[in-house]
Amino acid sequence: MFFNTFSWKEFLLRKIISLLTVLLLVVGCENNKKSLEPITPEDFLIIAHRGASAYAPEHTIPAYEIAQQADADYIEIDLQMTKDGVLVAMHDEKVDRTTDGVGFVIEYSLEELKQLNAGRWYNSANPGLANKEFEDLKVPTLQEIFSHFGNDVNYYIEMKSPKIYKKMEEKLVSLLIQYNLIRANGELPKVIVESFNEDSLTRLHQLEPKLPLIQLFYFKEEATLSVQHYNRLSNFASGIGVNISSVDNDFIQEVQLNGFQVYLYSINNEIEMKKALNLQANGAFTNNPDMGISVRTEFEK
Ligand code: G3P
Ligand code: CA
Repeated sequence: MFFNTFSWKEFLLRKIISLLTVLLLVVGCENNKKSLEPITPEDFLIIAHRGASAYAPEHTIPAYEIAQQADADYIEIDLQMTKDGVLVAMHDEKVDRTTDGVGFVIEYSLEELKQLNAGRWYNSANPGLANKEFEDLKVPTLQEIFSHFGNDVNYYIEMKSPKIYKKMEEKLVSLLIQYNLIRANGELPKVIVESFNEDSLTRLHQLEPKLPLIQLFYFKEEATLSVQHYNRLSNFASGIGVNISSVDNDFIQEVQLNGFQVYLYSINNEIEMKKALNLQANGAFTNNPDMGISVRTEFEK
């Protein structure tokens, strides 16, 4: 009995402290941008993580095409850069995992990178999903992706290793201008750019203030952001991306009350997708955009 009473009081105290913290953070943030509007399921964006990477080799044209066919709101593209300064779609700094080559992308010219096979590894790793079409895939450049999809998809682009790539931000902005992608597509921005690297996002903001930017975080334990964090973010960011394992409702509400969107990564099953929708985040990265869309549709009913 005593234990139950104590737990109840402790619960109440924790709730009050958590509410006061939210209040203090919101009041304390000098650059608080806007008041909280409810997130409806329709507002919840499904972002195809590395394309529909559950069904095709990540960061290849077929992976993006499957995401487009699934009606994903965005295709996610991780960027690396070749020795001769060409932006290419690849998650890792090294080519080893997703091609038949070895070494760092920065050690390859585009011509050399194009000799590598970017699909056979997937067929070997996923015999049940293997497809002959994947046998001859190459690493796509960002320009090839823009030429292929043009206005037909929205792009969520990650600056992967900007510290090692000279003028990566300038090259990205120049391509976005060339393809007229810095604009809205209905209510959504055509392009969103994300990075764990604050310096890179700050540079992008200087180059093109209209580009929506997302600061990525990974929290091993419970996600927390200080007033100083919020004030820094308000200089360049529209939102944050964060691992779902670290967040709860209070954190998401606090971030949104401070005027920032919250995107959760990476969510590859229905239970987690429902959790993300219940958390009222602004969207989620998933390897299975078809699953994301169907869970969202069910949630809307
Ligand atoms: O962009 C969010 C998420 O993609 C970050 O993780 O390692 O898959 O790029 P990663
Ligand atoms: Ca990514």
